[in-house]
Amino acid sequence: MEERLPSPGGARGRARSAARSPELAQPLAAVHSEAGDRLRTGIAELDRVLGGGVVRGSLVLIGGDPGIGKSTLLLQASEALAAAAPPILYVSGEESAAQIKLRSDRLGISARDVYLLAEAALDVIEAQVDALKPRALVIDSIQTVYLPQLESAPGSVAQVRECGARLMMLAKTRGIATFLVGHVTKEGALAGPRVLEHLVDTVLYFEGERHHTYRVLRAVKNRFGSTNELGVFQMEAHGLVEVQNPSGFFLAERPTNAAGSVVTACLEGTRPILLEVQALVAPASFTTPRRAVIGADYNRLSVLLAVLEKRAAFPLQTQDVFINVAGGGRAFEPAADLAFAVAAASSYLDRPVPGDLVVVGEIGLAGEIRRVSGLETRLKEAVALGFNRAVVPAAGCPAQPPRSGFSISGVTTVDDALRILLP
Ligand code: TYD
Ligand code: MG
Repeated sequence: MEERLPSPGGARGRARSAARSPELAQPLAAVHSEAGDRLRTGIAELDRVLGGGVVRGSLVLIGGDPGIGKSTLLLQASEALAAAAPPILYVSGEESAAQIKLRSDRLGISARDVYLLAEAALDVIEAQVDALKPRALVIDSIQTVYLPQLESAPGSVAQVRECGARLMMLAKTRGIATFLVGHVTKEGALAGPRVLEHLVDTVLYFEGERHHTYRVLRAVKNRFGSTNELGVFQMEAHGLVEVQNPSGFFLAERPTNAAGSVVTACLEGTRPILLEVQALVAPASFTTPRRAVIGADYNRLSVLLAVLEKRAAFPLQTQDVFINVAGGGRAFEPAADLAFAVAAASSYLDRPVPGDLVVVGEIGLAGEIRRVSGLETRLKEAVALGFNRAVVPAAGCPAQPPRSGFSISGVTTVDDALRILLP
């Protein structure tokens, strides 16, 4: 599809920047910091991912699959924002005002200072912003808004880029905290919102498995905070509910004394999350053994199984191996290696490992256990959730247990670990 960029808008933009008076360089110490200029959204998990609330005049892009809950999240945030900094303008190009009202009734939102606008033409939206002077603005979604003077269709790269730039100007000049919703497919195929990533201040992704109720919000770019933070929610009948204790959530249905089930402590940014990894090892029914991996990296697991075979003498060539992270969790960190290896060995031997145990460690090709980052944070989480022991890399193993009575074993090889765990 051919897309023509607008000459009038572009020329205007250049004229504007040329006309601006030249700024003088100033000492760093003299620059006014706007760090305190944040609005709380009232959703603690969202605030944390934003770096402590949304900054006035900043542009936040929230991407995610259609139906994941972006509109729900922002409608819920609008309510609290309206209480802190009224009024809020929620613009939807996808749903009618009546539909949004229906949804907000369902969510129990009754804020007076949330204004709805079902509109997609950007000049109309700008006029409404002029009239209402909102402190926060939600555009749901960037793919539906359009400038009539552009020839390409809404959602095209030219439209998304130009509308994004116009909204950026609006946000910066008026000091409006602006949220843009962008639909992205799993493959990231939708070119639209991607072209905005460099322009906006913050990019958040809202993800989750369609068949699990939990949703994860993570920052992939943040000019006003860390990109390491992550928020966990559950989609329920009355909207999104924050999950304050994700570890407990992922471990809720853990079987006791089941072979092949091992708990590991992953680090999502600065936040530790305990996950149950599961393996099922059974004699192969065909000459080529089957491997299936859900919630972890397939290649990584193939390497781990090869190490287990070569360094710990498990004849997995004759076995089908199925790997899963329970509850739809994801364990892509190398620190989860040892837990996967132990789970596979436990299932092969049909012997469970103790239920009050956490296993952490990266495995190298020689079967050595390598150190992991943030071990203390991981162990603290294990203590908080009532675990009593941990098997961790000997390198970097803390001298002092995080709680008296908590036992830590440092291991140097896979063989070591298996001798301790599955004697
Ligand atoms: P939505 O916020 O419309 O997703 P997006 O804006 O990302 O496309 O969420 C849609 C899904 O969430 C829909 O399939 C129904 C579900 N849902 C609930 O389970 N509970 C609720 O209270 C709401 C409002 C939606
Ligand atoms: Mg929506």
